[in-house]
Amino acid sequence: MKIYLVGGAVRDNLLGLPHHEKDWVVVGSTPEEMMKLNFRPVGKDFPVFLHPETHEEYALARTERKTGKGYTQFVFHADPTVTLEEDLKRRDLTINAMAMDGDKIIDPYDGQDDLEHKLLRHVSEAFVEDPVRLLRVGRFLARFYYLGFSVDPKTLLLMREMVQAGEVDALVPDRVWQETDRALGEKNPEKFFEVLEQCGALKILFGNLHVPRNFKDYKNPVRFASLFLNNTLLDIESFCKKYPVPAYYRELAVLANQYQKTELKNPEDIIALLEKLDAYRRPERFEDLLLIMINPELLKSAYESSKIIDITKLQKLGLEGKDLGEAIHQERIKTVQESINKFREL
Ligand code: CTP
Repeated sequence: MKIYLVGGAVRDNLLGLPHHEKDWVVVGSTPEEMMKLNFRPVGKDFPVFLHPETHEEYALARTERKTGKGYTQFVFHADPTVTLEEDLKRRDLTINAMAMDGDKIIDPYDGQDDLEHKLLRHVSEAFVEDPVRLLRVGRFLARFYYLGFSVDPKTLLLMREMVQAGEVDALVPDRVWQETDRALGEKNPEKFFEVLEQCGALKILFGNLHVPRNFKDYKNPVRFASLFLNNTLLDIESFCKKYPVPAYYRELAVLANQYQKTELKNPEDIIALLEKLDAYRRPERFEDLLLIMINPELLKSAYESSKIIDITKLQKLGLEGKDLGEAIHQERIKTVQESINKFREL
């Protein structure tokens, strides 16, 4: 048997980027032999094993043939006669279809050329066998756009044909969300959505999103929320029903959508908004929201000056329940007014 490093580790190595996990392909072996060597089988679908010590993934070289739509009907062919070249041929992009044998690079589909020309290009017609690749191409563009990468027009054409053939329907919500969330964490998430739009998958998957032209350097939940600023609450709800969106992402999206553009004419407006955002009880979430609100400095300074008020003083006055709430509210307004006055005096 012969073992090669494959996939993302080879690509990132050539790009001079760090890579977290190594994938290996094993040519000329069998599941029985792997088990004898104490490799542990994982996944019921693929002939993949974990190394007994490093726990890295070792997959038997395989070819895949699809017999139906989506990935419900895959037939594998993994026997010791499958060659490295055959295994690389069924992979998604040429830049992901190189192998290393020690220092030697094995590159039958010109991945190095495409790295140099900064092209995301499908390896072969086998690309169409996995609809997740529609999302992966978008995700890789989101990741590498800053280096000058683009999608090869022929690959885009192929993706369009896949969408027209109804392949998007075969995607399972978990995978769509997983890829989307990962794309939101890349340098240029807008490119992910752009690619999906260009191949016709965006609307089918996500309905009418108003994707920002560029996402600032924010975290994923904030970026998610910024997708829905010009949509209705119903759009957010139906998105979150369709995909396993974490509760925190949804909360931010709903609050930002409802309150981002609130007009702030006086201290009353400001405090009312801070209370609606639940800023005093959820300060960390409020910090995240500030990243997309239109008046972040004003809200932040109003929050800072109004967050500490002397509640015991109000309680000593005999206030409780609703009355206490109202007194706190008024006290907050007063502190904001005072800090505005002070600011004016300066
Ligand atoms: N692969 C593929 N088609 C897919 C998923 C994976 O062809 N739908 C192949 C690619 O050769 C890829 C490799 O399997 O490089 C490993 O997949 P994965 O770990 O998901 O991707 P990486 O390329 O390692 O990318 P990342 O850096 O995002 O982990």
